[in-house]
Amino acid sequence: MTDIAVLVDSRGGNTRKVADAIADELGVKVGDVTASLPDDAKILFLGSGTYGGRPGEAMIKLIGSADFTGRTVALFGTAGSDGGAGKMIAAMRDALARKGATILGSWHCKGRMLVVNWGHPDKEDLENAKKFAREMLRAR
Ligand SMILES: Cc1cc2nc3c(=O)[nH]c(=O)nc-3n(C[C@H](O)[C@H](O)[C@H](O)COP(=O)(O)O)c2cc1C
Repeated sequence: MTDIAVLVDSRGGNTRKVADAIADELGVKVGDVTASLPDDAKILFLGSGTYGGRPGEAMIKLIGSADFTGRTVALFGTAGSDGGAGKMIAAMRDALARKGATILGSWHCKGRMLVVNWGHPDKEDLENAKKFAREMLRAR
């Protein structure tokens, strides 16, 4: 039994790679972002790609529908640009804070978009994602 859940909205697979690395580090499996939140998931790692400066629809829906009171959330994402990721994570952070979540921290890296950011997330990105996961657990 674990109180940790890792959920991701990833259209193209980039953020899924990050989610897999985080879940691997935490010894859990990536859950289904389209399902309802398990009651016992007190620490959530929520991640998304960035689409027009916003998280994906499934993530928006999850945040809108679930109760985050008493839950702690760490945010992660990928984007074409740092500015894009920052905007997307800020949107998630604001929406979650309004739903009663405690935000632990956030992390993002570049994600390949056509020929831009070729190879990202790369090995170093995934190592940094794991490091982020460890830091978040220490901070909880
Ligand atoms: C439809 C679409 C819209 C995008 N919009 C943005 C954006 O507004 N800002 C940005 O930095 N990157 C943007 N990107 C790039 C993606 O965020 C980036 O490729 C990310 O790694 C995709 O994650 P995924 O593979 O998990 O879906 C966009 C990509 C797509 C396909």
